[in-house]
Amino acid sequence: MAMASPSNQALLETATRAAREAGLHALREAHRANEYHALLPHDLKLVLDKESQDVAETHILSRFPAHAICGEEGSTLSSTSPWEWIIDPIDGTVNFAHGSSYWCSSVAVRHQGEIVAGAVYAPVLDQLYTASREHPSCLNDRPIQPSSVQKIEQAMVYTGMSKQVHMEPRTAVDRLTHLSNAAQKIRMNGSAALDICQVACGVADAYLESGIYLWDYAAAGLIAEQAGAILHTRPLPHADGATAVLCSTPGIAETLLPFYNQGIPDD
Ligand code: IPD
Ligand code: CA
Repeated sequence: MAMASPSNQALLETATRAAREAGLHALREAHRANEYHALLPHDLKLVLDKESQDVAETHILSRFPAHAICGEEGSTLSSTSPWEWIIDPIDGTVNFAHGSSYWCSSVAVRHQGEIVAGAVYAPVLDQLYTASREHPSCLNDRPIQPSSVQKIEQAMVYTGMSKQVHMEPRTAVDRLTHLSNAAQKIRMNGSAALDICQVACGVADAYLESGIYLWDYAAAGLIAEQAGAILHTRPLPHADGATAVLCSTPGIAETLLPFYNQGIPDD
């Protein structure tokens, strides 16, 4: 007998609880932020990345044991479930390791290719962003919307440097200069999920980055779209899932398209 589909409400509650528990685990254990599995070029893998994903997974699988998991720290590749949970246990790992407050846990659920619910929780900032296809985007339970900015010269644009930046540093810097000349200000904060949520709630006007992954933007992208922002995603030719993402308030989305199509900073 086929299993009944879970309600949007149940999916959103589960995403929210999983993101909160993962984030709170990382926060409680932050004194262990110096324990790592791997030091990589422009990145590192903390013991707490894996532990926090385990915390999120445990909650999700206690509610939906047959669902699949796709996480930055590992996936259940053999699952044939049409429901897939996309987890970034600590988005902004380098920030976290340095004691910065700007990091979050992100959990989304996808059904047959469509993201249907998601939550992004920034424990130190005390910010919980949520949305589902049937629920409005909220920050700490209050509805949010993007800014009303209409001109790029009045826009604060968030961006980031790809981990592959050392392969093409000149091009990356040129593209960044171009964006910086056009916008009022550009900013690099180090957490794609949180940056996209800041576009959703109108603090930033746009976010543009090349070379991020599904777990970085799945939950935040839904939250931004449900809030009324414009989201574009385009797979890069590396074939490892690296993606270019533009998330913008509607008023400057078209102006930013050439930057996105050209690739910022490095695709
Ligand atoms: C990173 C952050 C960062 C972005 C990187 C991501 P992680 O995620 O989102 O802002 O520039 O490309 O990989 O590794 O901290 O989960
Ligand atoms: Ca991430």
